[in-house]
Amino acid sequence: MSNYHIKHLEEYYQVYRKSVREPEKFWEEVAEEHFLWRKKWDKVLDWDFNKPEVKWFEGAKLNITENCIDRHLATRADKTAILFEPNDPNEGAEHITYRQLYERVNQFANVLKQQGVKKGDRVCIYVPMIPELAISVLACARIGAIHSVVFAGFSATALSTRINDSDCKLVITSDGSYRGSKTIDLKGIVDEALESCPNVETVLVAKRINSEITMKEGRDKWLQPLLDNASKEGKAEVMDAEDPLFILYTSGSTGLPKGMVHTTGGYMVYTAYTFKNAFQYRENDVYWCTADIGWITGHSYIVYGPLANGATTVLFEGVPSYPNFGRFWDIVQKHKVTQFYTAPTAIRALAKQGAELVEAYDLSSLKVLGSVGEPINEEAWHWYNDTIGKKKSPIIDSWWQTETGGIMITPIPYVTPTKPTYATLPFIGIQPALMDENGKELKGNQVEGRLCIKFPWPSIARTIWGNHQRYKDTYFSAFENMYFTGDGAIRDEVGYYRITGRVDDVIIVSGHNLGTAPIEDAINEHPAVAESAIVGFPHDVKGSALYGYVTLKDIGETRNHDNLRIEINQLISDRIGPIAKLDKIQFTNGLPKTRSGKIMRRILRKIASKETDNLGDTSTLLNPECVQEIMDTSL
Ligand code: WTA
Repeated sequence: MSNYHIKHLEEYYQVYRKSVREPEKFWEEVAEEHFLWRKKWDKVLDWDFNKPEVKWFEGAKLNITENCIDRHLATRADKTAILFEPNDPNEGAEHITYRQLYERVNQFANVLKQQGVKKGDRVCIYVPMIPELAISVLACARIGAIHSVVFAGFSATALSTRINDSDCKLVITSDGSYRGSKTIDLKGIVDEALESCPNVETVLVAKRINSEITMKEGRDKWLQPLLDNASKEGKAEVMDAEDPLFILYTSGSTGLPKGMVHTTGGYMVYTAYTFKNAFQYRENDVYWCTADIGWITGHSYIVYGPLANGATTVLFEGVPSYPNFGRFWDIVQKHKVTQFYTAPTAIRALAKQGAELVEAYDLSSLKVLGSVGEPINEEAWHWYNDTIGKKKSPIIDSWWQTETGGIMITPIPYVTPTKPTYATLPFIGIQPALMDENGKELKGNQVEGRLCIKFPWPSIARTIWGNHQRYKDTYFSAFENMYFTGDGAIRDEVGYYRITGRVDDVIIVSGHNLGTAPIEDAINEHPAVAESAIVGFPHDVKGSALYGYVTLKDIGETRNHDNLRIEINQLISDRIGPIAKLDKIQFTNGLPKTRSGKIMRRILRKIASKETDNLGDTSTLLNPECVQEIMDTSL
């Protein structure tokens, strides 16, 4: 027996021990008992972190959509698979049953095939949070095409970079999207992006906001008429366990975004297993994750994990503030949501609103509250626990990453006692290690170090698309024979983990990972800018916000600084997206540098955070005099 559902702490420890002593045996049992395989594997695991190479369930054949849809038809055909809650509450929710999902995914898959998409081709999906987004993801998986979802809040430049990096020939989008009281011209952004994507042959356009858009002859096609003419039946492509399922881009500390590649078999097993346990999911629960499918949280815990368990998963198009800040709680009440999974930034924004916006709603259906994306501060944790959970719904502070595919460190609700700001214990099969700066493992409890993982788990990303060397350099070179996460962590006296944040130049703003280098590159494109450096500083809603230090060329000095700030943020918005805009821009005469010319971000970070009592030794800087000037003119 594989213990697919863990129910008490003793059982957790027992299963955990088994999963690390005999990982192959453990995951083989889970895979064997709970999934539909066309052919079983020849070997459970093959790995070498030095190469690096990881393969799970090699030789096995399957299609993940048969596990997420087809196999549920016998018992759950009329059960709601996707519960779509539109931006405008008056539009009314749409219940898509497993039977309907089966038909709509087949229709979409048949359309893709008609458009010439084949197994292994990359398809870019730039679609807002409407049913077509989940359906197009599943349609790609059904025919073995590799989906690359790009968050529909990214700019044209960010979109074109991602389309070109993975050489997508087909793009799926919509005429536009709703975002609270606003509409966004998505198709316009796609048109702009495609000016620099010569290899895109086809654009399929879903109708959502009925806006006037231009359709490029021969390239752009309305989706609905094609779907209407497509068959509701279709065979799933038989995939190898190690065939890529999708690419998802995440920011690195430098350079282009990294196209993390996830494969089919291990990703399915791990997301399904974690979903079941980390949310204590039971049949007839209504599960809601507020993330966007454009991020890994949406891939694993709106689409694949829940559907592999035959769950009802809510897909919400809107924002927490529309029509007012009670919207989340209105949805919880209306659909009797049982598991609610969101980000600390949303929790902080909602906690700032009046209590009456919560008290007006009946939240008694809630059983589990989840948090993900960044450290949750103590105040937000307590508000979530007391005001939303009424101290009876455990909070799972779940730590994981785009690269890990699934939840890695988390309490199991009703099993692991929670502790504010602690992600607590490693999930089944996960072997964390804390390392010091010299590459030595810190054993025992009450230690703080860099968080690594010692042994592969089924859903670890296998490579970076088109750049295996970068995969090795980023994750497997810092520490011998370890996957390095880029995060720091504390292990307390009972072995609970607390994630302290990034130890590299990635800044998490409202739960979005942003690399400093691409933002600095965007700023430096401004003709008046000589040089820039970005750091994070504490922000009571976003967690961290961005602070930019900019030195100007002579021509810049004659310009109005407020106008320059607007232009710089516009450039960032165009190159990356509005999420990367700077909250503060300080113009300075110089940036503190080491003698080798490296910008000392540590000092800038402290000044931006107003922690200037202990700047450390600045005398060895190339230009120590600029530190005082920066402090004097600090914003
Ligand atoms: C951070 C999101 C503290 C962390 C699933 C990680 C967290 C990065 C937590 C990955 C948490 C995520 N507590 N920090 N519970 N969850 N992080 O790739 O720095 O968007 O490395 O994946 O978010 O972000 P990503």
